[in-house]
Amino acid sequence: MSSQIKIIVGTQWGDEGKGKFADFFASDMDYVVRFQGGNNAGHTLVVDGQTYKLHLIPSGVLHSDKISVIGSGTLIDPKVLISEIDGLRQQGIEPNLKISQRAHVIMPYHIAMDEAISGHQAELGAGSTKRGIAPVAADKVLRLGIRMVDLLDEEVLAEKLDKAYKYNIGILKQVFGIDFELTQDQIFSDYLKYGQTLKNLIFDTEVELYEAFKNGKRILFEGAQGMSLDPDHGVYPHTTSTNGVASYAGVGSGLGFNCKADILGVCKAYVSRVGQSPFPTELVGSQGDFLRTKGHEFGTTTGRPRRVGWLDLVQLRQAVRVNGLTGLVVTKLDILNGFDHIKVCVGYQVGDQKINQIPASLSDFRQATPIYTEFNGWSNYSTEEMQEMINKGYDSLPVEMRQYLEFIESEVGCPIQVISLGPGREQTIIK
Ligand code: GDP
Ligand code: IMO
Ligand code: MG
Repeated sequence: MSSQIKIIVGTQWGDEGKGKFADFFASDMDYVVRFQGGNNAGHTLVVDGQTYKLHLIPSGVLHSDKISVIGSGTLIDPKVLISEIDGLRQQGIEPNLKISQRAHVIMPYHIAMDEAISGHQAELGAGSTKRGIAPVAADKVLRLGIRMVDLLDEEVLAEKLDKAYKYNIGILKQVFGIDFELTQDQIFSDYLKYGQTLKNLIFDTEVELYEAFKNGKRILFEGAQGMSLDPDHGVYPHTTSTNGVASYAGVGSGLGFNCKADILGVCKAYVSRVGQSPFPTELVGSQGDFLRTKGHEFGTTTGRPRRVGWLDLVQLRQAVRVNGLTGLVVTKLDILNGFDHIKVCVGYQVGDQKINQIPASLSDFRQATPIYTEFNGWSNYSTEEMQEMINKGYDSLPVEMRQYLEFIESEVGCPIQVISLGPGREQTIIK
């Protein structure tokens, strides 16, 4: 029997297929909760041949009997959220959605600051999605933030906006020489309108989750981003600005669950990375182009081509350890169909040292060259052939694929519980 709490997190640089699996596992749960990140995330779901693209709304939303919660730890651009709700309605989905009063709001000056700071950081930047994530997270910590509940309170909104606006446009002007065009009054009236549009969805979700948990309801936490983008444990400063590791589920939802949880790490059979940082196993040139095209590796949020490379077990080892993973979900194995040889990075060579854990030092990470183990590939199976294997189960997978998977398990010390061989819900093997 699975636990009352399930947490799904990314083990790499995001885009591992968390959305597919939040949707997949939602059928057994009562709530699906986003607890961090914002609309820097992009999750694609393919159900019954239909494609749905989500940024802020939890990926359980296609199940009309489940409650989707956007928790206090998320960062919300209300304009984007409203258009995402409208987009789902146009696809025939009425979101059953509750938004935490405590979630912080992305303001237009945050987006301008993101652009300015990214330019300033240059090589040390992360290649941000320019959605205002780092500046809104900074304002939260500076205690200059505006929360969803404030959009429903004219007086407090005016009071807080006055401080936050002046501070942000002051920096834009004095540090970066940028004249920010929107006036404080314009922002005030736009954000009050967003508050009115969303007011029936804004709740004390923390109390609701507590009551639900006490009443035995099953709660799925859906992480965004991935291990190496976590600001504490990832490849800092080439990271995002909210923690995506499993232990943040409690902080970012306000639920103190005092029970065992199933913690599933979603891991692509190779690695992709949108944005900037050292990437030891990156494939460049024609090999990279081939894998990117075959894997459709173009960002859901920004459309940027994703950098791609071989699976990195140094990164995965860290994800198992830091998240306390109880199981792995390996996705996109189908994309490796037809490769003669498949490489897996088992350690890094840094100077004259071999290491098998992620270094904290940026210079070590910059110098890290991968130490590979090579596997024989398997045939270029058709979708129909793969579906036949999926129907028959794990043992019917080609021996080379099983060897690859079993090597991963033994190297990182975590069982593979789910294998994904296509974007559709049905293209899944539970081991
Ligand atoms: P997320 O950000 O972790 O939710 O992942 P994204 O949705 O951004 O990117 C994963 C992409 O891979 C999506 O387009 C999914 O539809 C697709 N996908 C997920 N699992 C598989 C799989 O096993 N095989 C293939 N071919 N595509 C998959
Ligand atoms: P999902 O949930 C991939 C990356 C950006 C950049 C860094 C910082 O779809 O896996 P930010 O805009 O957060 O300040 O950007 O983080 N990034 C992602 N990359 N998938 C994501 O989300 C990401 N969210 C942020 O590309 O390198
Ligand atoms: Mg994504």
